[in-house]
Amino acid sequence: MSKQITGNYTYEVYESTDTLNKKDLELLNAAKFALVNAYAPYSNFNVGAAVLLEDGTVITGNNQENAAYPSGLCAERVAFFYASSQHPTKKIIAVAISAKTNNQEINIPVPPCGACRQAMAEYEIKFESPIRLIMSGEKGEIFISPSVSNLLPMLFSAKNLGK
Ligand code: THU
Repeated sequence: MSKQITGNYTYEVYESTDTLNKKDLELLNAAKFALVNAYAPYSNFNVGAAVLLEDGTVITGNNQENAAYPSGLCAERVAFFYASSQHPTKKIIAVAISAKTNNQEINIPVPPCGACRQAMAEYEIKFESPIRLIMSGEKGEIFISPSVSNLLPMLFSAKNLGK
């Protein structure tokens, strides 16, 4: 005997930045500004992330690559780890992500990789509060997920460590 468990996930699709609310747009613009300083000589895929804290502080990060490829880090984790290291008690409210590359115009939103989803979800659990996730390319649609864990079913957590 077995039972089947089915999940679902949800996100909003905005046609363009014109239809975003002011706060989301501001955070997205901070992410777009941050990607300019990405260090991505190997992929040429420059990613920016902007993290909004509960007191209005915005912390940005960008991807940092390395000649030993796996030693690099995504923009989201650079931003989250810096935010948490500098403001450990401030709740994280939202994150915006954007990207730009030399080769072509990015016209679909950039979703965070699996490792970043896991890393970001940790802070939802820590603060017991969802983190709004704003995903964008250079142009075109923008996706907004109401939380990170919404995009990461069956995540590994402290619960699995018996804590
Ligand atoms: N990257 C990010 O920084 N964030 C993402 O959400 C996707 C991928 C980086 C990792 C690597 O430096 C480059 O983009 C290409 O994968």
